[in-house]
Amino acid sequence: MAILKVARLGHPVLRRIADPIEPGRIKSPDIQRLIDDMFDTMAEYGGVGLAAPQVHSSLQLLVTEEIPDPDSDGGYLAQRSVVINPKITFLTAEEVAYFEGCLSVPDFRGRVPRIRRIRLQGFDRDGNSIDREVEGFPAVVYQHEVDHLNGIVFLDRMKDLSTLAYQLEFDRYWAAHAGEVAD
Ligand code: NI
Repeated sequence: MAILKVARLGHPVLRRIADPIEPGRIKSPDIQRLIDDMFDTMAEYGGVGLAAPQVHSSLQLLVTEEIPDPDSDGGYLAQRSVVINPKITFLTAEEVAYFEGCLSVPDFRGRVPRIRRIRLQGFDRDGNSIDREVEGFPAVVYQHEVDHLNGIVFLDRMKDLSTLAYQLEFDRYWAAHAGEVAD
């Protein structure tokens, strides 16, 4: 278990299309260790999601943190997850917009339109198939992380840069009105 160095915007690894992981390799010690280290790294830096290219491994692998449900006492919108070779299909044209942040674009936040409901397919860390529908904030997290696997960062998805803010100014001027905030 280790905390890995996070690639920041400008590092070419963030702009590459990541390589798929052969299904037979999913349970290998190197992939299992990478997954554990990604969870450690995400927790250390307080992210809700992390993609392998962000820790300099150009592989189709992402992890997400459990996401508490703000409208329920102790409930969760989503559990921790690992998705390997993910594929997203949009299930609606309806959009939702959150202020997103990114461990690779530290200290910035910006409002990003995303699709509200998606189908997520891929494999978990045991090599089992994943095929489920996800909506709302967890769907936004998956779209953000899958973008990383395709060399895309949230800045590319902003309709304009007028909501781009440093964290301090976001907290001061935007947070109260932002409604929905993603990390
Ligand atoms: Ni990110």
